[in-house]
Amino acid sequence: MAERKPRLEGKVAIVTGAGSRGAGIGNGKAAAVLLAREGAKVLLVDLFPARVNETLDMIVTEGGEASVFTGDVTSNEDCLKIVNTAVERYGKLDILHNNVGIDSPGGILDVEIDEWDRVMNLNLKSMVLMCRAAIPRMIANGSGSITNVSSVAALRPNNMDAYSTSKGGVIALTKTLASSYGKNNIRVNCIAPGMVYTPMVAEGMDEKTREKRWQSTPLQTEGTGWDIGWAAVFLNSDEATWITGTVLPVDGGALLTRRNF
Ligand SMILES: NC(=O)c1ccc[n+]([C@@H]2O[C@H](COP(=O)([O-])OP(=O)(O)OC[C@H]3O[C@@H](n4cnc5c(N)ncnc54)[C@H](O)[C@@H]3O)[C@@H](O)[C@H]2O)c1
Repeated sequence: MAERKPRLEGKVAIVTGAGSRGAGIGNGKAAAVLLAREGAKVLLVDLFPARVNETLDMIVTEGGEASVFTGDVTSNEDCLKIVNTAVERYGKLDILHNNVGIDSPGGILDVEIDEWDRVMNLNLKSMVLMCRAAIPRMIANGSGSITNVSSVAALRPNNMDAYSTSKGGVIALTKTLASSYGKNNIRVNCIAPGMVYTPMVAEGMDEKTREKRWQSTPLQTEGTGWDIGWAAVFLNSDEATWITGTVLPVDGGALLTRRNF
């Protein structure tokens, strides 16, 4: 059998939130490592150099090609600089993986309005800004692929009203951009991670809750950042050339069940 070519050979990618907030592998870090492993040149974006440098080290150690941009995806100016930097360093832009997002507990009556605004800004507006910066380059390039990270919390809410609403917005953003820019050969898809175990959720989670999370899914196994990263590889590869506007849950089947904790 012929040896498989790396699936993203020759592609240039941006991953936002490419570091992890704690020890271990988060969704953004895993996606960045896997996109590089599959041959993409990756611009790693994060607010914190120490976090994103860990991702860079992993990629370079494996022989992949990547570099760092330290910046804030809630700033329009930084988003424009991020896209310009990718094009300056690597000659074009093929893939934008919008991963930055924060969790936020509480119902609509509990959440302070400042917190509501912060969540919308970080989880939704940041993706809008990155898409506005990237799409003109992709149009000029004749093609492009965008993957936005939403959450099953948008589809099966769990008393995190600001979070769920922002992630629902990510799904709507995905669909409207897919509909508008298909004619430009730009695909826009969305990944809805389920209860994966990453540094983001590990903070303050006891072992009992951790176990309950994965045991409540039909597959009864624990998902990780790597599961989300592989979905990003697939959706951004030419294997997904006819897929746009879709929401891909990566959740061990959690959406088939009722929430039970
Ligand atoms: N872990 C889960 O169970 C789960 C479930 C559903 C969805 N998600 C989604 O996955 C995504 C994040 O996953 P992760 O594991 O990579 O999280 P993470 O918090 O470990 O990493 C995100 C990175 O983004 C960076 N960041 C934060 N704000 C930024 C900004 N303004 N500009 C640039 N960088 C910024 C952080 O410094 C951090 O390194 C989020 O969109 C989250 O909502 C996670």
